[in-house]
Amino acid sequence: MSEISSTTQSTGLERFLKACRLQQADATPVWFMRQAGRSLPEYRELRKKYDLLTMAKAPDICAQVTLMPVKRLGVDGAVIFADIMLPLEGMGIPFTIEPEVGPVIGKPVRTASDVEAIRVVEASDATPYLFEAIKLVRKELGETAAVIGFAGSPFTLCCYMIEGGPSRTYDMARAFMLREPRLWHTLMEKVTEVVVRYLKEQAKSGIHVAQLFDSWVGVLSAEQYERFVLPYSKRIFTEMKRQGLPTIHFGTGTAHLLELMASAGADVMSLDWRVSLDAAWKRTGYDKGVQGNLDPAVMLAPFDVIQAGARAVLREANGRPGHIFNLGHGVLPETDPDNLARLVELVHSETRR
Ligand code: CP3
Repeated sequence: MSEISSTTQSTGLERFLKACRLQQADATPVWFMRQAGRSLPEYRELRKKYDLLTMAKAPDICAQVTLMPVKRLGVDGAVIFADIMLPLEGMGIPFTIEPEVGPVIGKPVRTASDVEAIRVVEASDATPYLFEAIKLVRKELGETAAVIGFAGSPFTLCCYMIEGGPSRTYDMARAFMLREPRLWHTLMEKVTEVVVRYLKEQAKSGIHVAQLFDSWVGVLSAEQYERFVLPYSKRIFTEMKRQGLPTIHFGTGTAHLLELMASAGADVMSLDWRVSLDAAWKRTGYDKGVQGNLDPAVMLAPFDVIQAGARAVLREANGRPGHIFNLGHGVLPETDPDNLARLVELVHSETRR
């Protein structure tokens, strides 16, 4: 019996790519945002010796951490262990990542001369280590899982650059945008160019799919999004299409923006847990895939609750081709990896065709 199923069973890579192309896969692919991180004991062990940026900048360690969740959890996607902030260093904006806080920028971008000073660098000069790591991961993984590259969206990066650190509502960034629209567009153009180069170089190095993290875009109104952000996201997805690279577009708190975000042109829309997957998919269109959207907090409940939550998500997806199972945002550090592994197993077995 195992003989037969092993010949009909796809690799994780095939399963993932089929979903991106809206083709029926042998089962629903699954991965988790922040799967390579503090929920894994082997990560915490390494983390005692090195800080996050040291790990991300050493290709062998980066590859090792990227592969951890594939080995332990059996996910169909391996997200490169990096951070959305990495390209900023080459732009001339130094930052640190403070434990339990997030990115902190000593000298935020606030004036015309700050914007002027930003360097539009070649990705291969700015983050050569990342491209080395991608090549290592590709070699190690074979077809076990899709290699997922990513970048922060220009808006989310500008939020940190202007605010100087994490915020709930990014008031400074929104104020900058409204007060100095011309300067905002100059800044967004520069950051967009850096992001495009960064993703193109990742594509050249061997990623199978790219996710754009538009994490904080939900703080904008629809009108603001359309005017100040959408043209830049469109440019990124158009460039990726030219590369033949499938794309995923992620945001949180985006219920009021879904149609507009879908018009930016990604192949798959990543939904958070606040929206019903069924209703959101109808709005973003069945000509695109969807990713999501189990509440990460559900993972802290007993497994019968996790099971019910996962089944509810699968019911909403209704077996339609183009669903990639994920959480609605990143894995919480307190999550038990055994529950993540059981969840992967559950999604695969309940959707096996
Ligand atoms: O499996 C993975 O997803 C790991 C790779 C990854 C990291 N950051 C490593 C990381 C990815 C995909 C990111 C993306 C990222 N980074 C985003 C977009 C995703 C999202 O959550 O919306 C954002 C906004 C950042 C900026 C950032 N970096 C934040 C807000 C934090 C959290 C601060 C904290 O400690 O909770 C970080 C730090 C960070 N990036 C960690 C990891 C594994 C934890 C830090 C550590 O180990 O010390």
